[in-house]
Amino acid sequence: MINIPKGTKDVLPSQAHIWQYIEDVARVTAEGYGFGEIRTPVFEHTELFSRGVGDTTDVVTKEMYTFLDKGNRSVTLRPEGTAGVARAFLENGLAGGAMPFKAYYLISAYRYERPQAGRLREFHQFGAELYGADSPEADAETILLADNFLKNLGLKHVSLRLNSIGCPACRAKYQEALRDFFRPHLDKMCHDCNVRFGKNPMRMLDCKEEGCREFTRNAPRMLDYLCDDCRAHFEAVKRLLGQAGVSFEVDPSTVRGLDYYTRTVFEFVSEAAGAQGTVLGGGRYDGLLAQLGGKPVPAVGFAAGIERLIMVLESEGAPLPEPAAADCYLAGMDENSRAKAFLLAEELRRAGLSCETDLMARSLKAQFKYADKIGARFVAVIGETELQEGAAQVKDMKNSTSERVKFGDLAQYIAGREP
Ligand code: HAM
Repeated sequence: MINIPKGTKDVLPSQAHIWQYIEDVARVTAEGYGFGEIRTPVFEHTELFSRGVGDTTDVVTKEMYTFLDKGNRSVTLRPEGTAGVARAFLENGLAGGAMPFKAYYLISAYRYERPQAGRLREFHQFGAELYGADSPEADAETILLADNFLKNLGLKHVSLRLNSIGCPACRAKYQEALRDFFRPHLDKMCHDCNVRFGKNPMRMLDCKEEGCREFTRNAPRMLDYLCDDCRAHFEAVKRLLGQAGVSFEVDPSTVRGLDYYTRTVFEFVSEAAGAQGTVLGGGRYDGLLAQLGGKPVPAVGFAAGIERLIMVLESEGAPLPEPAAADCYLAGMDENSRAKAFLLAEELRRAGLSCETDLMARSLKAQFKYADKIGARFVAVIGETELQEGAAQVKDMKNSTSERVKFGDLAQYIAGREP
């Protein structure tokens, strides 16, 4: 037998309704803020991610699914959604349309990570991106969309961590302060951190090695280095969120793992889920579109991990929908009645009901057992007498009552009952 690749998961029909529910809540919430859906390719030219996501990040240096296609081009399975949306925005000249541009996506993404609970190699994201507005209101609205999405799902124990990592101007001074701070400890820090020290010392702050964390805990904070504009922007974002009744904690250690961020960064973290507790992360990234060869366009966005959301919804015991059950099962007692049941079932489906009938020439008892398993609301039984009378014996599976219903009235009878 061939097994599923490590770090990937099947979503079976018995679980798919939970995915559909989360996707529905995502769509309705995003559309309420004027975001329209965007779909971009699963793979892109590798350069999009190395330039966009940043070649000092773990995602780009260690985790990408990169391969040469048959035309010898280097392509990569998207490790996230933002870079693809930015490319599509530029390539389709969307800056010439209505601004701000607002788009959301529901995608699969790929990272070669060490799999564990809540960390997969193929995972799924709901994300949203807003282009063209550099105002604090744009950051606040994006965070409100994220917050509303999580609340609409019924999540309660998730807290918002907020930080500002400044603009390239104020960050340059901060990077120098970080280098001064880390320099005396470099020989005790991991190899990766030594590389990050030269390329981008801020990446050292989210090193996962316990030995390095000891030093990063006391590192200088970006918040103390913000320039006047970045500080005013951050203060306004905080004020807007406060006025909208969203509680948050300013967390100087939230720096995000991707290179494109500027100013506001945020994460929604579950109090229940432990190490992989970040269910949603995002921030402002005003430099990315220019970095990809376009004119500078300010941008802000986020993405949530669907698998992590499901984990957290389950661990919080949040109310989740039941799988959809059939409206009706049509049981036939013999060959002739089964043939009638087959055709009647199709009539009911054409009338908009969900309906099943026997496809395995099973006994009436076995058919009832199946109807029970699929949670059919009604079972309509047809035998010789029913065929002669042109009516089925309809059993209400909820309260065990039974009634004779003419074939022609079945659809109306079933549709008119309580679910
Ligand atoms: P990210 O923090 O890398 O940001 O990922 C966002 C979310 O995706 C995480 O909070 C987590 O829930 C989920 N996630 C990430 N990696 C995995 C994994 N290996 N297994 C399961 N879930 C995972 C981004 O991807 C940015 N593009 C977000 C963004 C959009 N920023 C601005 N716009």
